[in-house]
Amino acid sequence: MPERPRGASPTNQIVIAIDGPAASGKSSTAQWVAKRLGFKHVDSGALYRAITAVALRRYPAAESWTEDLVLSCGAAIALTPDGGSVAPTLDGKRADEEIRGAGVTDHVSEVARMQRVRAWVNDMVRRASASFDIVVDGRDMGTAVFPNAQLKVFLVADPWERARRRLVQQLGRGPTDDEIAAETSRLVHRDAGDATQTVQAVDAVLIDTTYLTQEQQVERIVALARAVSHRGNASSVDGREKQG
Ligand code: CDP
Repeated sequence: MPERPRGASPTNQIVIAIDGPAASGKSSTAQWVAKRLGFKHVDSGALYRAITAVALRRYPAAESWTEDLVLSCGAAIALTPDGGSVAPTLDGKRADEEIRGAGVTDHVSEVARMQRVRAWVNDMVRRASASFDIVVDGRDMGTAVFPNAQLKVFLVADPWERARRRLVQQLGRGPTDDEIAAETSRLVHRDAGDATQTVQAVDAVLIDTTYLTQEQQVERIVALARAVSHRGNASSVDGREKQG
């Protein structure tokens, strides 16, 4: 299936692309920024996770997966507006816990290296951008998918800190050093598996969040969105911004 022409949104909607490595805080930041601006949040990683989850449901023996087989699972997935997001449903239902589970995390990078799966995700995300102003997060949103996005941000953080934050999110408590070390090693391994597709656009603003609170990083991105708007590239960001 040919991909649509590359560019910002196919209609005249605004796109803010936030990319970066695993657990760099992209999704939670993107969600918050979207809320502030009155945009929809689209998590492209959730689509890679969703197709991996459907493949695991149907074909638990992952060693037998081919690109055709994984791609056939895409038919079970829809991107549906839900509150402040446009999020994947699997056979008509949200399955957030399942798509964040260890089984999916262990196999998602190999699925994400399948080029036709990438084209499928990119097409889904571009369709969402035709209907809404979006804040989209992933690895290659500012390069492969929306090279003309009005604002591009690349979020990085020290691997140990990324691992610590991910564990706090998962465990709901402060992790031990041994737990952080094990998670750091898993993250670094996944970063290596995702290295080809994790690309900082030349016109992206790099933000290192190691020593920032989430609120500070959100404020920076909202301020950048306003600055872009004042430069005339996205004149409607100001008008759409919400308080809080
Ligand atoms: O939240 P986390 O950083 O752990 O990962 P994610 O954003 O949920 O993405 C899950 C996986 O999807 C990544 O490990 C990549 O393999 C893949 N991915 C990708 O290849 N390209 C994207 N634009 C987004 C995710």
